[in-house]
Amino acid sequence: MKPPSPLPRRRFLGAVTLGTLASGLSPASLSSAQAQTAGSSTAPLTRTPLSLMAPRPDGFEAVWAVNTLCQGRIAWEADDGTRGSASPDAFGFVPQGSSVLRVRVNGLKPGTQYRVQAITRSADGKTEETSVWKSFRTLDTKAASTSFVVWNDTHVNNATIQKLHTTTPAADFLLWNGDTCNDWTSEDLLIPTLLHPGQCDITEGRPLFMTWGNHDVRGRHAYVMPSMVATPNHRPFYAFRSGPLAAVCLHTGEDKPDDHPSFGGRVAFDALRHEQAVWLEETLRRPEMREAPYRVVFCHIPLRWKDESVQDYSKTGFDRHSGRSRAAWHDVLVRWRVQLIVSGHTHQPAWLPATREFPYGQLIGGGPSPTAATWMQGTADRSRLEIVVRALDSTVKHTVQVAPGRRTRAV
Ligand SMILES: [Fe+2]
Repeated sequence: MKPPSPLPRRRFLGAVTLGTLASGLSPASLSSAQAQTAGSSTAPLTRTPLSLMAPRPDGFEAVWAVNTLCQGRIAWEADDGTRGSASPDAFGFVPQGSSVLRVRVNGLKPGTQYRVQAITRSADGKTEETSVWKSFRTLDTKAASTSFVVWNDTHVNNATIQKLHTTTPAADFLLWNGDTCNDWTSEDLLIPTLLHPGQCDITEGRPLFMTWGNHDVRGRHAYVMPSMVATPNHRPFYAFRSGPLAAVCLHTGEDKPDDHPSFGGRVAFDALRHEQAVWLEETLRRPEMREAPYRVVFCHIPLRWKDESVQDYSKTGFDRHSGRSRAAWHDVLVRWRVQLIVSGHTHQPAWLPATREFPYGQLIGGGPSPTAATWMQGTADRSRLEIVVRALDSTVKHTVQVAPGRRTRAV
């Protein structure tokens, strides 16, 4: 860790605005991004909290937004006194930019609790800001148990996001299962939606995995989103172990064919679905995936739905389930003995048990409004995987249990 900088340092003080107080959000849950500058009247360098994404057994990726050209680095500390600082990017630069800074942290120990902090320095070297310390725990592939939470289809509904943030407990990871936005009609929408959703610091105590929903790929500026969302392998499909759980995150693309006129020629998801099918064949043979007690897919659009009638895309038709994705992935997922597909998209919570034709359960979360929203709490240990789907008023919508190596059932 570097010694204290001689430069003027500014620390976020978590300023409380009238707007956030009026929203009913408690000051303790507010982000620290609305920086109050100590001893200076200039605008803060940083624009959002430090977002901790793509946790791994040996690290994570940090992402945060800035107001001007800056350089960034991440400092970390563990309870055993070890500490360090991460900054070089893959091309030997200190991470820098005038919009978003990203730092990939490597070399941490699995299953270990850390405190991490962003240090942001102006390009002219005259100002430096340090973020508040955030708690972070690396994943542990060998742990006996794991816990996770799932959000979906928040669609920039800030009342829902704020309630999810205050209700959802700390966990090994938060999986935001698509449709963070409506349409990316302006590039200005991306930073507040992805890095400061509902003005909340959503990754405190629960590092973030994200999957892409059909609205996340919609609009002329959707191509910018990958520059602000980290995944373990820099692709929108990836796999990881957390204790006994093997998770596969997939990109189901749009809910209409690629050549639909509303997409303006911007998308090529049939090719991406095929690439994911090839990747699944190789990935699911890896021992840590093949031998996991629990095998779950997270993807925005369900692979099954109650009504799978043919859609007229020339009118108002759209896919409630992704038949194109299922056609590409069903066989390889069944060979893997996938137990559960966890999705959103339909805006109504649902549970479709496994059948002879589809030997995997399909679990679906709710919609964007506070009365339609749900969140999922998952826990897995030696005896079972359980996912409880709750409304924002804590009403339990579904409870699904999976025995190790077995099919799913509702209780
Ligand atoms: Fe949605």
